[in-house]
Amino acid sequence: MKKRYLVTAALPYANGPLHIGHLAGAYIPADIYVRYLRLMGKDVVFVCGSDEHGAAITIRARKEGVTPREIVDTYHAIIRDSFARLGVAFDIYHRTSAPLHHETSQDFFRTLLKNGQFEEQESDQYYDEEAKQFLADRYIIGTCPVCANPDAYGDQCEKCGSTLSPTQLINPRSTLSGKPPVLKPTTHWYLKLNEHEAWLREWINTGKVDGVQLHDPGTWKNHVVGQCNSWLEQGLQPRAMTRDLDWGVDVPHEIPNSKGKKLYVWLDAPIGYISATKQWAKDKGVDWEPYWKDTDTNLVHFIGKDNIVFHCLIFPAILKAHGDFVLPVNVPANQFMNLEGRKISTSKNWAVWAHEYLAELPGREDELRYNMIKNMPEQRDSEFTWKGYQETTNTELVGNLAGFIHRVLVLTHKNYTGVVPAIEKDREFKSGWNGDQFTNYEEELHQLYEKLAAMGREIEHFNFREALRLLMEISSAGNALLQFNEPWKAVKEDPELVKVVLNLGMQYVAALSVAMRPFLPFAADRLRNMLNLPSLQDDREWLDILNDLAEGNPVLQPNHGINPAEHLFSRIPDEMIQAQVDKLQQTAAAQAESASATTEAPAFDPVKETIQFDDFAKLDIRTGTITEACKVEKADKLLQLTVDLGFEKRTVVSGIAQHYKPEEIIGRQVLLLANLAPRKMRGIESQGMILMAEDAEGRLSFVSPASGWPNGFGVR
Ligand code: MF3
Ligand code: ZN
Repeated sequence: MKKRYLVTAALPYANGPLHIGHLAGAYIPADIYVRYLRLMGKDVVFVCGSDEHGAAITIRARKEGVTPREIVDTYHAIIRDSFARLGVAFDIYHRTSAPLHHETSQDFFRTLLKNGQFEEQESDQYYDEEAKQFLADRYIIGTCPVCANPDAYGDQCEKCGSTLSPTQLINPRSTLSGKPPVLKPTTHWYLKLNEHEAWLREWINTGKVDGVQLHDPGTWKNHVVGQCNSWLEQGLQPRAMTRDLDWGVDVPHEIPNSKGKKLYVWLDAPIGYISATKQWAKDKGVDWEPYWKDTDTNLVHFIGKDNIVFHCLIFPAILKAHGDFVLPVNVPANQFMNLEGRKISTSKNWAVWAHEYLAELPGREDELRYNMIKNMPEQRDSEFTWKGYQETTNTELVGNLAGFIHRVLVLTHKNYTGVVPAIEKDREFKSGWNGDQFTNYEEELHQLYEKLAAMGREIEHFNFREALRLLMEISSAGNALLQFNEPWKAVKEDPELVKVVLNLGMQYVAALSVAMRPFLPFAADRLRNMLNLPSLQDDREWLDILNDLAEGNPVLQPNHGINPAEHLFSRIPDEMIQAQVDKLQQTAAAQAESASATTEAPAFDPVKETIQFDDFAKLDIRTGTITEACKVEKADKLLQLTVDLGFEKRTVVSGIAQHYKPEEIIGRQVLLLANLAPRKMRGIESQGMILMAEDAEGRLSFVSPASGWPNGFGVR
């Protein structure tokens, strides 16, 4: 067991507020993990901060007609405040505009340079002669080569989703001056990532570096390892670590040709984790270095899936290239959370914003946290709906959890004047766990121990949904305990039964007050108060309970007096939900209206010349499943696929690379034109063609039969 933990959560761009996708993706999971570790008595530091550089910031500033500094100051404050109010308990929330961060990342750059990790390369990049500056990809707009959208960006077309580079745009123009940019040579420092490919491949797949086992490879999520391998298969290229910009961290001035050059935002931002740790240590008067350099540290990065390549390949390469630093033991990235059936989108205003939620549903921070965890996109994309939020809150938090706690506390007040009753330990009663079989007190305490230990194991393995399910199982078992033994009826004829049942109920409630803490920190505090227990210091309280229960000791002693019972949660009424749904629809509609003013109606292609049935019958279309997929070298648009037709496998080259990533289509069922004459593309023989639907915007979609359909059969 390693000694200490350094836990990071992705630094959010200070160019807009937080939404539920951010929370469910990185911050709530990180917070649960950290709170649990603290409750287990671990030495843990939890760092985060605002990512204040890069085009994300300067573009927002231009749009709002203010300086980048004003943008980062505004959103840094909003984001920091939302985190604090949602109980995300960072040890420090730092910012990358801080001088300490600039120094730290410049020192990193110097060391990488000294270690021979860079090569200087000259390339042609777009330059705006009027604005007299090089243009970041996002500052160039032009016609998309894939779908002809006239307003595609230099890095991406938002209409068809294609990844682009600025030189692919037709008729490019600068967003600064509106004029066509010119190509101009510029020199940058490129990190020789290609030299890191071999060890990264080994590390990702075996957890070993230079023969040392750094982590158990089975502990990383499949989708994380899969995405890394898909990048590694394409081969790592040297990557520019500097930019021609006027906002960011300067390349250290003593380095020749550094004038006007800034560090690439994805170089400086992750170093932000280190500068945040330094600032925290400085404030506390402790040494930061062991947290990053001692091999006895567990470094864990919580992120969303769009950050995987940076945290699993590029930043580790930077750390290793620098030397002396540990590598992450895990990067438990999450997938995305959708909202009411659609992708969350800032530009389409399709989101639930954290600061608005906090203002409009005050006092319901834990309800939001609970719903984020319950639908956490741990292995696949998930979905948040307001209806689901209401149902979950009302049945699980109000009905199950708050209901159980309230019943136990009220009955304790009513029957024993608010003190935990003393009991006869061998008195039998019906268990809330296994149907209604008889059990005794000691066995039930053991059962509680098992559940808490199991919850802890799930948290340690980043299975937060499962841990939450186990938490609620304790409460369900508590309710069943009351239901089966009916203490409200038995009080006259069998007082000993009632005592043991309520004493045990109180043990459940006391254990819940600690076990709830990582998930529902505010309710946990309220509950501690009701129980007349000291407020949690996040300091080994979970461990203490485990130790007590393991020895068969109760959490609460007989005669412990409690405070008046209150309801921990209250129902969400229909109107509250309706107001949120209406607001979402209205703001999105307003956004769409202003956007549609600039786009024309879709144009349908005219129907082709008439054919006879015999013409159609010549086509042999079969169902098949994609079993392998990879990019075709030096071809932006092509993927090489293996399609299993059931009776044979086909190699197919398909022009869908700008629409689908190889890793996301493995396992998909498709329709294959199986008797098309084979054709060589880039040296690969393509044995058939996959049928795709295409819309006016040039988006492509697979066409497939109903799920569970067999392969190899024809389509008529
Ligand atoms: N700002 C980035 C984003 O929101 C995340 C940066 S994470 C860090 O996608 F490691 F670079 F800090
Ligand atoms: Zn496009």
